[in-house]
Amino acid sequence: MRCKNFYYKDDELLCDGLKIKKIVQEYSTPVFIYSELHIRENLNQINKVINGKQITVCYAVKANPALNILKLAGTENLGFDVVSEGEMRRVLASSPGQKKIVFSGVGKTDEEIRFALQNEVFCLNVESLPELNRVNMVAKSLNVRAPVSIRINPDVNPDTHPYIATGLRENKFGLSIDDGMIAYKTAQSLPFIDVKGIDCHIGSQILSLEPFEQATNKVLNFIDRLIKETGVVLSHINLGGGLGISYSDKEHPPSLENFLSLTSDIVINWYNKRGLNPPHLLFELGRSIVGNSGILVAKVLYLKSTMDSNGKNFAVVDAAMNDLVRPTLYNAHHEVVPVILNKKTRSSIWEIVGPICESGDWLAKNRELRLLEGDLISFLSAGAYCSSMASNYNSRRKPVEVMVNCDGSVREIVRRESYDEIFNREIT
Ligand SMILES: Cc1ncc(COP(=O)(O)O)c(C=O)c1O
Repeated sequence: MRCKNFYYKDDELLCDGLKIKKIVQEYSTPVFIYSELHIRENLNQINKVINGKQITVCYAVKANPALNILKLAGTENLGFDVVSEGEMRRVLASSPGQKKIVFSGVGKTDEEIRFALQNEVFCLNVESLPELNRVNMVAKSLNVRAPVSIRINPDVNPDTHPYIATGLRENKFGLSIDDGMIAYKTAQSLPFIDVKGIDCHIGSQILSLEPFEQATNKVLNFIDRLIKETGVVLSHINLGGGLGISYSDKEHPPSLENFLSLTSDIVINWYNKRGLNPPHLLFELGRSIVGNSGILVAKVLYLKSTMDSNGKNFAVVDAAMNDLVRPTLYNAHHEVVPVILNKKTRSSIWEIVGPICESGDWLAKNRELRLLEGDLISFLSAGAYCSSMASNYNSRRKPVEVMVNCDGSVREIVRRESYDEIFNREIT
């Protein structure tokens, strides 16, 4: 099974020993179900590689911002990568006083910069010259020196969906090598800027180590030039995140262990060769930690076939693009499996669609399944960029989210939204 903590026993889908059907009986559908064991195993893998080294893995909150998941990452010693005040507030709510927070993003507002500085952000990852000046101005108003890193755009092709490629010259992220050099020189003259590091993040769902290797080498070449031209000594290098997961048999991503070891070895060897102390290394990983820890379970509402010769079979389910937008947004593939294996019904090819009034509201296409109305089906690999991208489109409530604990019991981590919550911000 794609998500290894979800498996069949006696033709029934289980999560770490617990029957999915039982969870649905209690919490109804659509429901996101996560395996705590899976997340813990990934966190353990990370901590095994770190093992006393000067490495901090920051959990990319955008992947899945549930407070329970943040708490889990915090107690396992991870730092956090945030891209908004809201995400930073989530981190502080789940681990008060958390100091290992890096703040990325091309469009930080003055309020966000102020909030980050007032709450002792570890580092603001600055993405443009105007932002650098803005940070200096906000820091001056608070009479503090802002810890910053400059995000370099290394112009490396991560070979992923264009919407999640972020380290190509044409992308809005970071500064080119030449502009990056100007940024460091400018930073030296800004009294309220404390240059701490350098960062880059080339994209997400990256399936080979090569682009990471290329980006790391480009960052090191940049540092070489930086030392020669400015004498700036960096206390950390942040190599971002982006390690992919397997959504289907076609994807064979490197392990977290290989990714972390390869990139950190390149940096450490580079510094050792020059007789220099390697700086602290940071990473910003999301998908590879939680992506395959979760599924979305939905109920088949109607089976509908169009009658002409090119006819299609539609399985209309009670989840929709507002719950799982990746298919329509990126043409993304989520494997679909039944909660109970039904061997008697004839199998057919299905388009699995939601109730939303858009033809883009599809969750899976051309899937061979044995389906009956009322069946429960699971969309696999739904732990990252699924609940975090959910919306209220068509005034639909966001799903309930539950965690299967390591001992096989279950806890609700996000309530199903109530209708009042959807419109109680509105003024009539
Ligand atoms: C700046 C930054 N860091 C980290 C991440 C996390 O990426 P992933 O979840 O693929 O590890 C992202 C997501 O694209 C990002 O934009």
